[in-house]
Formats: sequence, C-alpha cells, structure tokens
Amino acid sequence: MTTKRLLELRVNGITHTVASDADATLLEVLRETIGLTGTKWGCLTGDCGACTVLVDDLPVVSCLQLASQVEGRDITTIEGLGGPAGELSEVQASFVRNGAAQCGFCTPGMIMSSEALIRAGVEPDETAVREGLAGNLCRCTGYNKIIDAVVEVARGRE
Ligand code: FES
Ligand code: FES
Repeated sequence: MTTKRLLELRVNGITHTVASDADATLLEVLRETIGLTGTKWGCLTGDCGACTVLVDDLPVVSCLQLASQVEGRDITTIEGLGGPAGELSEVQASFVRNGAAQCGFCTPGMIMSSEALIRAGVEPDETAVREGLAGNLCRCTGYNKIIDAVVEVARGRE
C-alpha cells in the first residue's frame, strides 16, 4: 500500500488540501483529485504541451511536475483564466476571434503558454510568439491562427 501525504495546493486562488501519493504528478492531482479536467492528458513525456499550467506565472508541463514540489506556489489552470461570471480572458477571446482552435485538444495548454508569454511581455512579433509556443503541439490548425491570436493580444498591450 502506498503511503499518502497531505498537500496544500493553491490552484486558481483556492487552497485545496489533498491526500496524494509521493510520486503523484501535478497533472494527476489537478484532474483526478481536484477535478479540474481542462488540463489535458497528452503524451505524459513532456513533449506535447497539452498539460501546460502556470506556476507563479511560468508555464510548466504538469505531467512532469511532482505535485509535492509546488506546495505554496500559485498554480493557474485554464479554469482560472476567465472572469467570475465565465467571461473569457483576453487570450481566450482572441483565440475565438481568430478561429485558433479546431478539435480543441491542444487548446488549454496552448492558451496557458500564450498567457505566460503575454504576462512576460512578449514582443508582438510572429517569430517571438512562434518560438515561445514551440513546446505546444497542434495537429489541426497549422499554427498560423494561434500565432495571430497571440500577436493580436501582445499588440494590444503596447
Ligand atoms: S501531456 Fe504533458 S507534455 Fe504532453
Ligand atoms: S486544435 Fe486540434 S490539436 Fe490543436
């Protein structure tokens, strides 16, 4: 039997006390214990970016992050981006305007990485955004609409 330990995780501004295996990943705890299923299971090897969340505003692939190592940090998932009445965030709204999602599987991770770029003040420049999103794979869109969506938000911040 695996011993569980109690963790306090602050997710989207709410502290959750969860019983977790020592080797549980942040992705497992977010989805299976806390019930935030917007963060996607993809490759589980750090290659696709579908599981990206923010930890203290920085993008992290949650499939490779032990939950026990992010106690006391600010974790943001796709569920935490919009407003209290379900309003879309600026990045989410730009994805919709630009038609930047098709099947949607990559979209939460792509939006979290985009959000991190915007918070870090990325230049409104296609190359900079493309490089910033290089860790997020999309098999549907061809990337151009995604890049356009992020450049548009970055331009609006100038
Ligand atoms: S599921 Fe984490 S990078 Fe693919
Ligand atoms: S929209 Fe389908 S994988 Fe990106």
